[in-house]
Amino acid sequence: AEQQVVADLREKSATPPSLLRDVAAAMADEMCAGLEMEGGSRVKMLLSYVDKLPTGREEGLFYGLDLGGTNFRVLKVQLGGNDKHAISCESREVAIPPHLMSGSSSELFGFIASELAKFVADEEKGTSLSNGKTRELGFTFSFPVRQRSVASGTLVKWTKAFSIEDAVGKDVVAELQTAMQKQGLDMHVAALINDAVGTLAGARYYDEDVVAGVIFGTGTNAAYVEKANAIPKWEGELPSSGQMVINMEWGNFYSCHLPVTEYDQALDNESLNPGEQIYEKLTSGMYLGEIVRRVLLKLSLQSAIFGEIDHTKLKTHFHLRTPHISAMHHDDTPDLKTVEEKLKEILEIAGTSLETRKMVVEICDIVARRAARLAAAGLAGILKKLGRDGSVDKRRSVIAIDGGLFEHYSKFSKCLETTLNELLGESSKFIVVKHADDGSGIGAALIAASQSQYRNVE
Ligand code: BG6
Ligand code: GLC
Repeated sequence: AEQQVVADLREKSATPPSLLRDVAAAMADEMCAGLEMEGGSRVKMLLSYVDKLPTGREEGLFYGLDLGGTNFRVLKVQLGGNDKHAISCESREVAIPPHLMSGSSSELFGFIASELAKFVADEEKGTSLSNGKTRELGFTFSFPVRQRSVASGTLVKWTKAFSIEDAVGKDVVAELQTAMQKQGLDMHVAALINDAVGTLAGARYYDEDVVAGVIFGTGTNAAYVEKANAIPKWEGELPSSGQMVINMEWGNFYSCHLPVTEYDQALDNESLNPGEQIYEKLTSGMYLGEIVRRVLLKLSLQSAIFGEIDHTKLKTHFHLRTPHISAMHHDDTPDLKTVEEKLKEILEIAGTSLETRKMVVEICDIVARRAARLAAAGLAGILKKLGRDGSVDKRRSVIAIDGGLFEHYSKFSKCLETTLNELLGESSKFIVVKHADDGSGIGAALIAASQSQYRNVE
């Protein structure tokens, strides 16, 4: 029976090149549909109002707030002006108390503002703001926001593990500004950006061939530079740069070509956002461990493979996390000791045979490989839309990627790169995939600098 469960999973999760090409083509089509008109696609293609990317000459002191990944971060970034490498950055990571992820908007923003106020007080201890300037902040808010300008925008919906109903439809900058005022913190939000946009900006600062910023972390998303005249839905005045960064929100991509299994369907039905973020649920860190848990549970209920066990842990949603499956998947001990330990520690499955542990590794492999291959198809879709898949534009194109999944799950990142090369064939020589380390914190500071009310005033 256990062989059948795995064989079924393998078959339903298959991602042959022909399927990936269909996914890439569908992604490129959805991008066009989303740019055409508001509501034209599930892929929202949100305008970021970032119409200039960093030049490398940004300078000044900026604070940053980064909300939406595994941790919430506060940052202080000093930009060096003409010396690109003179950036210095101090940051502090704070875990968000889980109850705040589903509480009220004022509680969440109150917490963020108080952590920021503490950080500022510590950083500025013994110094005085002698120049009389208001502090400026770049706010990285990694959720879909409909922006009205580079420093304002309303929350479209929550994704990942957040669900705070009264914040939907509100201007997140106004919420933050009010919370900061309550803390007596004199700080002005100069820019509101998505983490994918921040990653693009941060990477572009060092390399002008960067065309897209992509996140594979808790969630997944991509941002890229679009020609302003290729955005029919844009009603405002076109910027002089002729460009605009688009926050794709590709996590919500769906295509009938996606290999969705019974486990994905059940996960989706029982999720905080059923029917939404399907591509994200197949490819990002929040979900991969949970998919594997569901497969292991079925194995255990339908076969005697794990023996008599207490199913409490195995039945607990999100109990098996992606870092756990990554540790099992990368186990290179001959008798799979790490797999044995993890199964015991996390799921209370003890006394497994080597055969069984090999099967667990195979399940991790099927789930992570499918994710990485679909991720590569998404990237191929963007390159296709830009004509940078070797079809039109043969310049060097760099894709900057950040996020815990890409950074820490090396079998995922390797498979992503191999698959992209497989899809692009000869043209892969024009494409570079780069890990952008903490691009989005620096990116937010860079964009804040370009929007600063004090720029040109010295
Ligand atoms: C970080 C960015 O490097 O990556 C965050 O600064 C982003 O803004 C994050 O959300 C994604 O990572 P994860 O893996 O924590 O979701
Ligand atoms: C989710 C969010 C998106 C974010 C991504 C990565 O998909 O909706 O805004 O960029 O996660 O953090």
